[in-house]
Amino acid sequence: MTRPPLPPNRIAEMFDRIHARYDLLNRVLSLGLDVLWRRRAIRELGVGRGDSVVDLCCGTGDLTQEISKVVGPGGRVVGVDFAGGMLSVARQKFPGLEFVQGDALAVPLSGPFDAATLAFGPRNIHDLPALWRELRRLVRPGGRIMSLELTRPSGVLGWLHGFYLRQVLPRLGCWLSGDNSAYIYLCNTIAAFLDREQLSESMRHGGLLEVRAIPLSFGIVTVHVATVP
Ligand SMILES: C[S@@+](CC[C@H](N)C(=O)[O-])C[C@H]1O[C@@H](n2cnc3c(N)ncnc32)[C@H](O)[C@@H]1O
Repeated sequence: MTRPPLPPNRIAEMFDRIHARYDLLNRVLSLGLDVLWRRRAIRELGVGRGDSVVDLCCGTGDLTQEISKVVGPGGRVVGVDFAGGMLSVARQKFPGLEFVQGDALAVPLSGPFDAATLAFGPRNIHDLPALWRELRRLVRPGGRIMSLELTRPSGVLGWLHGFYLRQVLPRLGCWLSGDNSAYIYLCNTIAAFLDREQLSESMRHGGLLEVRAIPLSFGIVTVHVATVP
């Protein structure tokens, strides 16, 4: 099992340091693709009007808000994150949405929800089996789980991607955020995290069913969807 290179309290501090520039950085570093990836991930998850969804590691709330459009006023979506700075941006951007401060491994909600989601969260989690257990507690039997995470493409693109991660992204991230360590952390976690198949395996080991991995943008990101038994 790979672990993020920082303990949870340091991860929360790091996101709190960059919260004001997080959205801008996301847009620039992904060339705007992050918006499309979140929408596609929601389509793969397959939630609909009236459903209830918990969005863990919600950060500044972009996925939470996209989900709220799909579930509509008759549904419910709650964003959860442990970094207060990230949540303050989310609350400012989306005052009508529900956000709760809490750890993804001990969510202060009882559920059951129809689905749970995490976008760019799993590689920050130090205990993935505990995450899958927590998701099974929060989501009803037959409900759905979705993870959207940065992954490594293979072949020539893998080499270019590695170059971008090592040489371009930390410099650009540092320049835009003024925080050198945060974007070195980002690159290290992408390089060290499970590959697509290993993440599917971890979900299956965690008791999730019908695990499916969908690579997007030549495998730069992968959507995983699964069903709770
Ligand atoms: C890369 S951001 C992703 C934010 C958002 N989901 C998005 O799509 O932009 C990762 C977020 O996960 C949060 N996070 C990391 N580990 C967490 C944990 N154990 N519990 C709650 N939030 C966590 C961080 O505070 C940060 O806001």
